Amino acid sequence: MKGREKRKWGEDEAREMKIGFLQTRPVFGDIWKNTEDAAGEIEKLDCDLIVLPELFSTGYQFRNKAELLKLSEEIDGGYAVGRLKELAKKKKTHIVAGLAEKEGRRAYNSSVLIGPKGVVGLYRKAHLFWDERKIFTPGDRPFSVHKAGRARVGMMICFDWVFPEVARTLTLLGADIICQPSNLVLPYCPEAMKTRSLENRVFSITANRVGKEERVAGKPLKFIGSSQIVAPDGAVLYRAGGWRAEARVMEVDPEDARKKKITPLNDIIKDRRRDLFKC
Ligand code: ACM
Repeated sequence: MKGREKRKWGEDEAREMKIGFLQTRPVFGDIWKNTEDAAGEIEKLDCDLIVLPELFSTGYQFRNKAELLKLSEEIDGGYAVGRLKELAKKKKTHIVAGLAEKEGRRAYNSSVLIGPKGVVGLYRKAHLFWDERKIFTPGDRPFSVHKAGRARVGMMICFDWVFPEVARTLTLLGADIICQPSNLVLPYCPEAMKTRSLENRVFSITANRVGKEERVAGKPLKFIGSSQIVAPDGAVLYRAGGWRAEARVMEVDPEDARKKKITPLNDIIKDRRRDLFKC
C-alpha cells in the first residue's frame, strides 16, 4: 500500500489527533468507583478522543432485569455521564463511553459521545449478545456519525463487529474513526476488527475491559482485554495485553480514513457492485 510505505500513520504532526482507549477493570455495581477511577485516568491523559469499555460504570453480568434497572442511569442526570461531561469540558476533549442507559422501564446497552459542550451522540446497541437479550431492550436508533474535533466519529458496541454492515454503514455515513466500547469474552473480535478497518479504510478503536465476573452461577466470564487501535490499512497500531488495566493514546491523522482508493483504479466505496447485491 503506497500511502503507508511513503509515510507512517501520524507522521504529519500538523494534522494529527490524539486518540486512544482506556482498558479498565471495573468492580460490579460500584458506579461511583468505576467512574472516578476512569475519570482519574483520563485526567492524566493528553488526548482529543478517548474510548472507554462497554458498561464501563456498572460492570457486565447483571443477574436480572430488576438489577439492571437499579444500576442503569438516565443520560440526563446520571452520575457517570455527568462526571464525564464535567471532564470533557475541563480537558476540552471527547469521550466515548459504554453504559447502561435507563429510559422509563427500559434499559439499553448504550454508548455516548461526550464533548466539551456536552452529549454529542447516543448509540444503543443493536445486536445484543447472549443473556443481554433477556434484559436489555435492543437499540432503536439508526447508526449515526458525529464530529469530534477534526474527526468524524461513529459508534458500535462489542458484538456488533459480527455484522459487517455496521462498520460499513458508519463508513458510508462518513466515519473516520469507529469507536467500539466492548466487553469481549470470545477471542475473535480483535483480529476481525483489522478487517473491518481494512475493508472500510477507517481507524477503529476497541476499548475492552479485563477481569472476571461470575455473578450467575455456572456462567463464569473472563474478559480478554486486547483493546486496540487499528489504522485504515488494517495495521494494528497498538494492542493491549489481556490482564492489566491500561491507557494508550496515539497520534493519527483522521483524514487518512478519507482515502478510499486501495490502488489507483480501485475505490472500495465507489466500486461496490450494488446492482448485484441482494441487500
Ligand atoms: C459482547 O457483545 N459484550 C460480547
